[in-house]
Amino acid sequence: MTTLKPHRLRCDRLAAPQGLATRIPRFGWALTGGNEGAAQTAYEIAVSADPASLMDGRASHWVSGKLASDQTQFVPYAGQPLASDEIVHWTVRVWDENDQVSDWATPQSIMTGLFDPDDWQAEWIARYFVLPAGREIPADNLYDNRWQARPADHLRRDFQTRERPVRATAYVTALGLYELYINGLRIGDEVMAPGWTDYHQRAIYQSFDVTEEIRDGANAIGALIGEGWYSGRVGHNQRRAGNHYGGRPAFLCQLHLHYADGTIERIITDGEWKTRQGPVCYSDFLMGEHYDARLEIESWSEPGHDDSGWQPVEVFTPEPRPPLLTPPKSPPVREVYELPGRITGQAPSGEWIVDFRQNFAGYCRLDISGAKPGDRFTLRHGETLDEDGNLYTANLRHAVATDHYTAKGDAHGESFKPRFTFHGFRYVALTLPEGMDPETLRLTGIALFSDLEETGHIETGSELVNRLVSNIEWSQRGNFLSVPTDCPQRDERLGWSADAQVFWRTAGYNMDVSGFFAKWLDDIIDAQLADGAFTDIAPSRPLNPYRQTAQPGAPGWGDGPVIMVWQQYLRYGDRGLLESAYPALKRWMAHIAGANPDHLRVNAVYNNYGDWLSVGPASDRTMVGTAYWVFVADLMVKIAKVLGEDEDATLYAGQATDVRAALIDAFVAEDTRITGDTQTAYLLALDFDILPADRRAAARAYLIEKLDEADGHLQTGFLGVKHLLPVLSDIGEPGRAYDLLLKDTYPSWGFSIRHGATTIWERWDGWTPEHGFQSANMNSFNHYAYGSVGEWLYARMAGIDWDEADPGFRTIRMRPLFDPRIGWVKAQYDAPVGRIESAWQHTGHSVEWSIAIPPGCKADIELPCAESAITFDGRPLTGCETAEGTTRFTANAGPHRVVIRTDKDIPA
Ligand code: BGC
Repeated sequence: MTTLKPHRLRCDRLAAPQGLATRIPRFGWALTGGNEGAAQTAYEIAVSADPASLMDGRASHWVSGKLASDQTQFVPYAGQPLASDEIVHWTVRVWDENDQVSDWATPQSIMTGLFDPDDWQAEWIARYFVLPAGREIPADNLYDNRWQARPADHLRRDFQTRERPVRATAYVTALGLYELYINGLRIGDEVMAPGWTDYHQRAIYQSFDVTEEIRDGANAIGALIGEGWYSGRVGHNQRRAGNHYGGRPAFLCQLHLHYADGTIERIITDGEWKTRQGPVCYSDFLMGEHYDARLEIESWSEPGHDDSGWQPVEVFTPEPRPPLLTPPKSPPVREVYELPGRITGQAPSGEWIVDFRQNFAGYCRLDISGAKPGDRFTLRHGETLDEDGNLYTANLRHAVATDHYTAKGDAHGESFKPRFTFHGFRYVALTLPEGMDPETLRLTGIALFSDLEETGHIETGSELVNRLVSNIEWSQRGNFLSVPTDCPQRDERLGWSADAQVFWRTAGYNMDVSGFFAKWLDDIIDAQLADGAFTDIAPSRPLNPYRQTAQPGAPGWGDGPVIMVWQQYLRYGDRGLLESAYPALKRWMAHIAGANPDHLRVNAVYNNYGDWLSVGPASDRTMVGTAYWVFVADLMVKIAKVLGEDEDATLYAGQATDVRAALIDAFVAEDTRITGDTQTAYLLALDFDILPADRRAAARAYLIEKLDEADGHLQTGFLGVKHLLPVLSDIGEPGRAYDLLLKDTYPSWGFSIRHGATTIWERWDGWTPEHGFQSANMNSFNHYAYGSVGEWLYARMAGIDWDEADPGFRTIRMRPLFDPRIGWVKAQYDAPVGRIESAWQHTGHSVEWSIAIPPGCKADIELPCAESAITFDGRPLTGCETAEGTTRFTANAGPHRVVIRTDKDIPA
């Protein structure tokens, strides 16, 4: 038997899909173990309804037999067609290079979704529509509030089973947000379900196995629905702050009861359901939630509840059309971390300040005892305190971010956490009922985000770099909530595409973003305009509510999909994604080209943001936009080649040549000065390979000049910053890359860290000792765009990089940059193919470097020194040295140890 082991099983990018989207899923697994040079030579997959039969050749759906192949990703299912509403299990075993077989992997389950539109019989239900929201009752009513935010509706019905079903599945979604209950129990652990999509086109439904919850005889099913992205507030446009998709939340659910005799009974949402308001007086993303525990409805989702006072629901057809119902491609949002709150004292405002010591997105759980009925607790959320020690909320703009809890006075204590709101915060300012001692309560922060597997880990000998890594990770957690957003705190929280595209490579090291991106790509393509324009944000609706049309994408923004799709391909090796995105990408390219016959990007630039939020001299926006055009045209050549679209490849290559020539003609002077003369101008010119070879040296020199002029500081904005450290490393200046990384004077990453940042700031000068807070109009402390430096930490500092020629990390490009100031680095990345490790220690004249390469993979290693300085697994290298004083060699699967020893300092 081999020591090779398949693990981390994936089916259509998910560990255990609940509601599979396709009848022909694709399987993938990582490998671990094996000898040096280990590789898979064959595999066998089994798929079965009965997990017990999986490994003995009796699997009901598919036994592939031993298939000679080294493929471990995107292996298509080829068994008996999968049906709607079934649960199957699958496993895999592999053979190694000596034809020794592994154990079967721990099986994973797959729940199929509802494949055919005809499978759906449920109808949309909602509380009867009354305008304006919340005003149907007198203004002194408990449900009334300044923002006309709606109370959460309860929905319920009783039903009978004729016996206990052998299996039961619930398919559920909402226009808005929902929580599902059966017989008094909350179903599933997702929050903010079903997630954000353009509900006029698509809504995601969840599938739950509820077999255990269904009883013989009397049962009840119920839901709580809230506004969320559907009818609540999102975005910053006060002319249309909410009601982006509709005026009230609605619910759709279909419960399948499978009886022993093979019949299926369906309990669906229809006119039989009833509705009532309860303790959630309102709950809105931006405003917060008011929960009055005195209004709780006891046992409302249990059978036999007296619902005679409840109202009938309205059965209706959503406008402008019922959304397409699709199963999730991404893991759901969950409550992932708990952070203890610490009361630090009383603010001048009189409120108690609670510090969670981490800026994050989520809400608090409040545990109290000894409250009297009607006691009111108020929690205001903010990212920071002002100079007087009061909660600073001016930067939240119109987001009120306040939760209220009215106690019922339960002698056994009571506990509150909001349901349909979240805030971006580190601090809470707490107002307690008269005379209550703050020591008698507990406040726990609950961090919510799309629960993606965390795939990267990196630690170094530098406190500052470790903090930076943590800040990047927390900004990703705080902003990966159903869609990748710009920020989680103010009245915005939108899926801005440039923020995402500059950060995407970093994001992919930190977490498995394969499913999350596949879902967002649906949103992006749903938002694409008829003329081919991608949009600035996706889902796009709340941004431009005056016109009911989306804001078309600016250069660097609208280009995002091309860039991210290509990166996804390099990271995961999934050609299928390229294929499905390709027509939309082509339409975008045609959109730019059609508007700009002279090959300069002067038209169709929309809200041309340029190198957004840079400091120092501004880059020329047309130059930046045109440089991006070169970049995406080059990417389209690569994408077209992978897809075998040779004619298109020729077309885009021609376009790239024309645009390069036009850019040089318009913006590059004879001496190679580029209009604007900024760091970003030279960075883009170098990284996008815009200049001919004989002009690159001059551009390099100007880049260094610009850095020197800024006293070694960066001056880049959202678009430029990503290229800084990579370009400096590529042009033979890695020491300068480390200088920037380790700086803590303004502007730098270290500056924000020195001033207490626990997430990445939106602006380099979000707060400075000289000027205090930047303009409250736009000053988030949790914006991941500048965190795009993370990719360099993995790809270059640690040396774990993909290889464009062999995507999916089957070949790992390892070009670590050693620096004595960091001392040591320990990194790992769980690629789909398996875990890659890199750890080095620098002791001045020597570096010891250990790596681990997963089975079936190899490393293409490049080190910045002569081969005579290197020993590899204890042996000297021969014949690997290249002309530029670097040494290049290959390492096979397995652990390896590299030692570099010189009599002078080792160059970074
Ligand atoms: C957002 C961004 C976005 C930018 C575009 C801001 O309001 O927060 O991060 O990319 O607008 O101008």
